[in-house]
Amino acid sequence: MRGTVPISGSKNSALAIMAAAALADGESVLENIPQEADIRTMAWILQELGARVWLDDEGLHIDGSAVRNTKAPYELVRRMRGSFYVAGLLLGKLGRAEVPLPGGCAIGSRGVDFHLRGFEHLGASVAIEHGFVVARAKRLKGCKYLINRASVGATINMMLASCMAEGVTVLQNAAREPEVVDLAIYLNAMGAQIRGAGTDEIRIHGVDSLRGVRYSIISDRLEVGTYAMAAAITGGEITITHVVPEHLRLPFLKLEEAGVELVISDSTLLVKAPSQLQALDVETGPYPSFPTDLQQPIVSMLTLAEGTSVVRETVFDHRFRYVDELRRMGAEIKLERETAIVRGVPQLTGAPVEAPDLRGGAALLIAALAAEGETEIREAQILDRGYERLVDKLSGLGAQVERIPGEDDEEEVLLELPGRSAVNF
Ligand code: EPU
Repeated sequence: MRGTVPISGSKNSALAIMAAAALADGESVLENIPQEADIRTMAWILQELGARVWLDDEGLHIDGSAVRNTKAPYELVRRMRGSFYVAGLLLGKLGRAEVPLPGGCAIGSRGVDFHLRGFEHLGASVAIEHGFVVARAKRLKGCKYLINRASVGATINMMLASCMAEGVTVLQNAAREPEVVDLAIYLNAMGAQIRGAGTDEIRIHGVDSLRGVRYSIISDRLEVGTYAMAAAITGGEITITHVVPEHLRLPFLKLEEAGVELVISDSTLLVKAPSQLQALDVETGPYPSFPTDLQQPIVSMLTLAEGTSVVRETVFDHRFRYVDELRRMGAEIKLERETAIVRGVPQLTGAPVEAPDLRGGAALLIAALAAEGETEIREAQILDRGYERLVDKLSGLGAQVERIPGEDDEEEVLLELPGRSAVNF
């Protein structure tokens, strides 16, 4: 691969910020929103709740003034886990939320118990009724909440629910991910009073109201990692723009350990692959450790490294479903509980494979770019959930990649109901 690729806005940041935007009785304009399927799903959910959401050249407009419906639709929420942020939105704004237990990538058990316990700490009553989480409170009250594990989703949902609660909320063992920090900066611009985001203790002073503002979403660090690993495995040399290097310190360290040369200049990253990648050991963990979302891509990259790599997944319990597919392409990977032992092979070969989840799909794509011959990735529409203009961007880097329309594209057309079409991308 050769050429330059610009990075889009962060999906995971955008999902949280879109829910936050609807907290305000006024209009926010969100810039740098990635035009991806998950973003469209969130836009549709917010519209169902009564928000006005539309896209134009300025960005994605969200006005939460008319949010009155406290029940989120099952057929949309089940598609992705980030949709559960509307629980924090509805509880924080209206004191009542009825949200289906969320779906999303099948990468582990992925409960929402930490979110629900947090809502209870704020004084809400929480019950599961017919598959829906029903949370109610007359008035939410600030609390001290020690999160069992530094969960990104629970931290974000608690920030959404508590920023207009009475008094002070202290989140301990909070997630430190850049997406949490982005959300805090945006909420503060709206008038919230949040301190400590980016550390493991976040203090939220409840305010009476929030206003809509203009805001630009941070770049997607996971997209950076994916393209860098694709360049590394293909013996490529690419320039990646719109990068925030400090969000990727560990992934960059690991790429360098594998022999990849990285040259950072402000927000531009030059990636030069070595003639031979070297094996290495990686362990995923909450930020600033190595991100679990790059575990799958890096395993793919290491299939062609010299030597044996050990990759340990500590965040999710089933994030190795793509490994069987990689084996079909000639990779030698042994799984021992949460650890993948990857013995480098000289060559991968193209094969029909199936994307099991978003980042697993990215891993197969990375392998396919380097494999000899053609690979057909089934269920490839899952990649649209989190990679903007994927085929265009890859083609721009010299990859030979083509999108074959499938049955699932029709499902999207069916969901283009009146009023939703304004956010159709
Ligand atoms: N967990 C629970 N109970 C909870 C919450 C989490 O047991 O109530 C467990 C999870 O099952 C997991 C661990 O705690 O084992 C960490 O989960 P976390 O809550 O941090 O993850 P998340 O909020 O569900 C977000 C991203 C994921 C990313 C993880 C980790 C969004 C919408 N999703 O998920 O992104 O992998 O943080 O960084 O922001 C992706 O983009 O492909 C993706 C899966």
